[in-house]
Amino acid sequence: MKLLGFALWQPHLDLSKLLLGLLELAALDETKNTEIALIAKNSLSLIASFCPKAVIIALSKEVIRYNSSLQTTQIPLVSPLIASKTDVLRIIEQLIENHYVDVVELVIPVCDVLIHCLDLQLLKHQNFHDLFPPISKLYMIAFCPATKKLAIGGNNGAIVIHELKNMKSQTIQAHNNLISSIAFSSDGKFLAVYASKDAKITIWQTHQSFLGMGQSQMKLIKSMAAPIEISETVHARLVWIGAKMLKLLLSNGTESIIQI
Ligand SMILES: *[C@@H]1O[C@H](CO)[C@@H](O)[C@H](O)[C@H]1NC(C)=O
Ligand SMILES: *[C@@H]1O[C@H](CO)[C@@H](O)[C@H](O)[C@H]1NC(C)=O
Repeated sequence: MKLLGFALWQPHLDLSKLLLGLLELAALDETKNTEIALIAKNSLSLIASFCPKAVIIALSKEVIRYNSSLQTTQIPLVSPLIASKTDVLRIIEQLIENHYVDVVELVIPVCDVLIHCLDLQLLKHQNFHDLFPPISKLYMIAFCPATKKLAIGGNNGAIVIHELKNMKSQTIQAHNNLISSIAFSSDGKFLAVYASKDAKITIWQTHQSFLGMGQSQMKLIKSMAAPIEISETVHARLVWIGAKMLKLLLSNGTESIIQI
Protein backbone atom coordinates (compact mmCIF):
# COMPACT_ATOMS: atom_id res chain seq x y z
CA MET A 1 0.00 0.00 0.00
CA LYS A 2 1.25 3.47 -0.80
CA LEU A 3 0.18 6.78 0.62
CA LEU A 4 -0.12 8.51 -2.72
CA GLY A 5 0.41 12.23 -2.55
CA PHE A 6 1.11 12.21 1.19
CA ALA A 7 3.92 14.73 0.68
CA LEU A 8 1.46 17.05 -1.01
CA TRP A 9 -1.34 16.97 1.47
CA GLN A 10 0.67 16.44 4.63
CA PRO A 11 1.07 20.19 5.37
CA HIS A 12 -2.71 20.62 5.20
CA LEU A 13 -3.80 17.99 7.60
CA ASP A 14 -3.96 17.65 11.33
CA LEU A 15 -1.36 14.96 11.92
CA SER A 16 -2.57 14.31 15.48
CA LYS A 17 -6.12 13.59 14.33
CA LEU A 18 -4.88 11.33 11.54
CA LEU A 19 -2.59 9.40 13.90
CA LEU A 20 -5.27 8.99 16.55
CA GLY A 21 -7.75 7.78 13.93
CA LEU A 22 -5.28 5.26 12.54
CA LEU A 23 -4.25 4.09 16.02
CA GLU A 24 -7.90 3.47 16.84
CA LEU A 25 -8.35 1.43 13.64
CA ALA A 26 -5.10 -0.46 14.24
CA ALA A 27 -6.34 -1.50 17.68
CA LEU A 28 -9.63 -2.90 16.35
CA ASP A 29 -10.33 -6.46 17.26
CA GLU A 30 -8.04 -8.18 14.82
CA THR A 31 -10.08 -11.35 14.51
CA LYS A 32 -12.99 -9.41 13.06
CA ASN A 33 -11.31 -6.51 11.34
CA THR A 34 -8.02 -7.94 10.21
CA GLU A 35 -7.87 -6.07 6.95
CA ILE A 36 -8.74 -2.63 8.28
CA ALA A 37 -6.37 -3.05 11.24
CA LEU A 38 -3.57 -4.12 8.90
CA ILE A 39 -4.08 -1.19 6.56
CA ALA A 40 -4.04 1.16 9.55
CA LYS A 41 -0.83 -0.41 10.89
CA ASN A 42 0.86 -0.09 7.50
CA SER A 43 -0.25 3.51 7.14
CA LEU A 44 1.13 4.32 10.59
CA SER A 45 4.49 2.80 9.65
CA LEU A 46 4.60 4.76 6.40
CA ILE A 47 3.72 8.05 8.05
CA ALA A 48 6.29 7.45 10.81
CA SER A 49 9.02 6.83 8.25
CA PHE A 50 7.93 9.80 6.16
CA CYS A 51 7.87 12.37 8.98
CA PRO A 52 9.47 10.83 12.09
CA LYS A 53 9.91 14.06 14.04
CA ALA A 54 6.35 15.27 13.44
CA VAL A 55 5.02 11.90 14.60
CA ILE A 56 7.08 11.98 17.81
CA ILE A 57 5.90 15.52 18.56
CA ALA A 58 2.27 14.67 17.80
CA LEU A 59 2.36 11.64 20.12
CA SER A 60 4.00 13.57 22.95
CA LYS A 61 1.48 16.41 22.59
CA GLU A 62 -1.23 13.82 23.05
CA VAL A 63 0.36 12.87 26.40
CA ILE A 64 0.43 16.52 27.47
CA ARG A 65 -3.17 16.99 26.35
CA TYR A 66 -4.26 13.91 28.29
CA ASN A 67 -2.36 15.12 31.37
CA SER A 68 -4.00 18.51 31.37
CA SER A 69 -7.46 17.08 30.70
CA LEU A 70 -7.02 14.89 33.82
CA GLN A 71 -6.59 18.02 35.89
CA THR A 72 -9.75 19.66 34.62
CA THR A 73 -12.18 16.76 34.66
CA GLN A 74 -13.52 14.50 37.38
CA ILE A 75 -14.27 11.60 35.07
CA PRO A 76 -11.24 9.37 34.53
CA LEU A 77 -10.50 9.39 30.82
CA VAL A 78 -8.80 6.60 28.98
CA SER A 79 -5.92 7.94 26.98
CA PRO A 80 -6.19 7.08 23.28
CA LEU A 81 -2.47 6.26 23.32
CA ILE A 82 -2.86 3.70 26.08
CA ALA A 83 -5.74 2.01 24.28
CA SER A 84 -3.41 1.63 21.27
CA LYS A 85 -0.16 1.23 23.15
CA THR A 86 1.00 -1.84 21.22
CA ASP A 87 1.05 0.20 18.03
CA VAL A 88 2.50 3.30 19.69
CA LEU A 89 5.37 1.22 21.08
CA ARG A 90 5.86 -0.48 17.72
CA ILE A 91 6.15 2.92 16.00
CA ILE A 92 8.75 4.10 18.53
CA GLU A 93 10.71 0.88 18.09
CA GLN A 94 10.63 1.37 14.32
CA LEU A 95 11.82 4.97 14.69
CA ILE A 96 14.75 3.95 16.93
CA GLU A 97 15.70 1.34 14.33
CA ASN A 98 15.43 3.52 11.22
CA HIS A 99 15.58 7.16 12.36
CA TYR A 100 18.06 7.04 15.19
CA VAL A 101 19.32 10.62 14.78
CA ASP A 102 15.77 12.06 14.91
CA VAL A 103 14.95 10.00 17.99
CA VAL A 104 18.12 11.20 19.74
CA GLU A 105 17.19 14.79 18.97
CA LEU A 106 13.70 14.27 20.45
CA VAL A 107 14.60 11.74 23.11
CA ILE A 108 12.89 13.72 25.91
CA PRO A 109 9.41 13.72 24.26
CA VAL A 110 9.99 10.09 23.17
CA CYS A 111 10.41 9.18 26.85
CA ASP A 112 7.27 11.14 27.80
CA VAL A 113 5.35 8.83 25.46
CA LEU A 114 7.09 5.71 26.80
CA ILE A 115 6.42 6.64 30.44
CA HIS A 116 2.78 7.19 29.51
CA CYS A 117 2.33 3.89 27.63
CA LEU A 118 4.43 1.43 29.62
CA ASP A 119 3.14 -0.37 32.70
CA LEU A 120 5.28 1.25 35.41
CA GLN A 121 3.92 -1.14 38.07
CA LEU A 122 6.28 -3.71 36.59
CA LEU A 123 9.26 -1.63 37.75
CA LYS A 124 8.86 -3.23 41.18
CA HIS A 125 10.64 -6.27 39.79
CA GLN A 126 12.01 -5.13 36.46
CA ASN A 127 14.34 -2.61 34.93
CA PHE A 128 12.89 0.16 32.74
CA HIS A 129 14.93 -1.23 29.86
CA ASP A 130 13.22 -4.64 30.26
CA LEU A 131 9.86 -2.97 29.69
CA PHE A 132 11.05 -1.58 26.37
CA PRO A 133 14.36 -3.15 25.23
CA PRO A 134 14.86 -0.95 22.10
CA ILE A 135 15.95 1.96 24.34
CA SER A 136 19.12 0.04 25.23
CA LYS A 137 20.50 1.61 22.04
CA LEU A 138 20.06 5.08 23.48
CA TYR A 139 22.94 5.70 25.88
CA MET A 140 21.52 9.09 26.84
CA ILE A 141 18.77 7.31 28.80
CA ALA A 142 19.61 5.84 32.20
CA PHE A 143 17.49 4.11 34.80
CA CYS A 144 18.40 3.52 38.42
CA PRO A 145 16.61 0.43 39.82
CA ALA A 146 17.48 1.45 43.41
CA THR A 147 15.71 4.82 43.25
CA LYS A 148 13.38 4.23 40.24
CA LYS A 149 14.70 7.36 38.57
CA LEU A 150 14.84 7.69 34.83
CA ALA A 151 17.28 10.28 33.49
CA ILE A 152 17.25 11.48 29.89
CA GLY A 153 19.89 13.69 28.30
CA GLY A 154 18.48 16.00 25.64
CA ASN A 155 19.99 17.46 22.49
CA ASN A 156 20.39 20.92 24.08
CA GLY A 157 22.34 19.78 27.13
CA ALA A 158 19.30 19.57 29.41
CA ILE A 159 18.65 16.51 31.53
CA VAL A 160 15.17 15.50 32.63
CA ILE A 161 14.96 13.29 35.69
CA HIS A 162 11.66 11.49 36.24
CA GLU A 163 11.09 10.08 39.70
CA LEU A 164 8.84 7.21 38.64
CA LYS A 165 7.90 6.37 42.24
CA ASN A 166 5.97 9.60 42.74
CA MET A 167 5.73 10.83 39.12
CA LYS A 168 7.67 14.01 39.80
CA SER A 169 10.20 15.34 37.39
CA GLN A 170 12.87 18.00 37.24
CA THR A 171 15.08 19.47 34.53
CA ILE A 172 18.68 20.55 34.96
CA GLN A 173 20.71 22.41 32.37
CA ALA A 174 23.80 20.22 32.65
CA HIS A 175 25.64 21.00 29.39
CA ASN A 176 25.39 23.23 26.33
CA ASN A 177 25.20 20.56 23.66
CA LEU A 178 23.75 17.14 22.94
CA ILE A 179 24.27 14.69 25.77
CA SER A 180 26.01 11.58 24.45
CA SER A 181 25.74 9.34 27.46
CA ILE A 182 24.58 9.31 31.07
CA ALA A 183 24.79 6.71 33.83
CA PHE A 184 23.66 6.40 37.44
CA SER A 185 25.99 4.88 39.99
CA SER A 186 24.50 1.63 41.33
CA ASP A 187 23.33 3.24 44.58
CA GLY A 188 21.79 6.08 42.59
CA LYS A 189 23.77 8.76 44.45
CA PHE A 190 25.71 9.97 41.45
CA LEU A 191 24.80 10.71 37.86
CA ALA A 192 27.65 10.91 35.35
CA VAL A 193 27.02 12.86 32.15
CA TYR A 194 29.13 12.99 29.01
CA ALA A 195 28.58 15.62 26.32
CA SER A 196 31.02 14.97 23.51
CA LYS A 197 30.52 18.32 21.77
CA ASP A 198 31.28 20.09 25.05
CA ALA A 199 34.33 17.82 25.53
CA LYS A 200 33.20 17.43 29.13
CA ILE A 201 32.05 14.94 31.71
CA THR A 202 30.10 16.22 34.69
CA ILE A 203 29.21 14.38 37.88
CA TRP A 204 26.00 15.23 39.73
CA GLN A 205 25.04 14.19 43.22
CA THR A 206 21.52 13.61 44.40
CA HIS A 207 20.76 15.77 47.36
CA GLN A 208 17.83 14.60 49.44
CA SER A 209 15.95 17.53 50.93
CA PHE A 210 15.28 17.88 54.66
CA LEU A 211 14.07 14.58 56.21
CA GLY A 212 13.75 13.13 52.74
CA MET A 213 10.57 15.08 52.11
CA GLY A 214 9.91 16.93 48.91
CA GLN A 215 11.95 16.48 45.82
CA SER A 216 15.60 15.53 45.72
CA GLN A 217 17.89 18.05 44.04
CA MET A 218 20.84 17.44 41.76
CA LYS A 219 24.04 19.25 42.62
CA LEU A 220 27.07 19.55 40.34
CA ILE A 221 30.11 18.17 42.16
CA LYS A 222 32.67 17.76 39.40
CA SER A 223 33.36 18.83 35.83
CA MET A 224 36.19 17.27 33.83
CA ALA A 225 37.67 17.58 30.35
CA ALA A 226 36.87 14.60 28.11
CA PRO A 227 37.73 13.57 24.54
CA ILE A 228 35.51 14.57 21.63
CA GLU A 229 33.73 11.72 19.90
CA ILE A 230 33.46 12.09 16.12
CA SER A 231 30.63 9.69 15.23
CA GLU A 232 27.11 11.07 15.08
CA THR A 233 25.20 7.81 15.21
CA VAL A 234 27.29 5.63 17.51
CA HIS A 235 27.61 7.22 20.86
CA ALA A 236 30.13 6.71 23.59
CA ARG A 237 29.10 4.98 26.79
CA LEU A 238 29.72 5.69 30.43
CA VAL A 239 29.86 2.64 32.69
CA TRP A 240 30.32 2.68 36.47
CA ILE A 241 32.96 0.15 37.54
CA GLY A 242 33.12 1.02 41.24
CA ALA A 243 31.51 3.21 43.88
CA LYS A 244 33.53 6.24 42.69
CA MET A 245 35.00 5.11 39.41
CA LEU A 246 33.71 4.87 35.87
CA LYS A 247 34.82 4.10 32.36
CA LEU A 248 34.25 6.12 29.20
CA LEU A 249 34.07 3.80 26.19
CA LEU A 250 34.42 5.65 22.90
CA SER A 251 32.99 4.11 19.74
CA ASN A 252 36.50 3.71 18.24
CA GLY A 253 37.37 1.33 21.07
CA THR A 254 39.34 3.78 23.24
CA GLU A 255 38.63 3.51 26.96
CA SER A 256 39.44 5.90 29.75
CA ILE A 257 39.00 5.58 33.50
CA ILE A 258 37.39 8.43 35.41
CA GLN A 259 37.78 8.81 39.14
CA ILE A 260 35.40 11.05 41.04
C1 LIG B 1 2.09 13.63 32.71
O1 LIG B 1 1.74 13.46 34.07
C2 LIG B 1 2.57 12.60 34.81
C3 LIG B 1 1.97 12.40 36.18
O2 LIG B 1 1.53 13.60 36.74
C4 LIG B 1 3.98 13.18 34.85
O3 LIG B 1 4.84 12.36 35.58
C5 LIG B 1 4.48 13.31 33.42
O4 LIG B 1 5.77 13.90 33.41
C6 LIG B 1 3.53 14.15 32.60
N1 LIG B 1 3.98 14.12 31.22
C7 LIG B 1 4.03 15.20 30.45
C8 LIG B 1 4.57 15.01 29.09
O5 LIG B 1 3.66 16.30 30.81
C1 LIG C 1 39.56 7.48 19.41
O1 LIG C 1 38.92 8.74 19.49
C2 LIG C 1 39.48 9.64 20.44
C3 LIG C 1 38.60 10.86 20.51
O2 LIG C 1 38.30 11.38 19.26
C4 LIG C 1 40.91 9.94 20.04
O3 LIG C 1 41.49 10.81 21.00
C5 LIG C 1 41.70 8.63 20.01
O4 LIG C 1 43.02 8.87 19.57
C6 LIG C 1 41.02 7.65 19.07
N1 LIG C 1 41.68 6.35 19.20
C7 LIG C 1 41.98 5.57 18.14
C8 LIG C 1 42.62 4.27 18.46
O5 LIG C 1 41.70 5.91 16.99
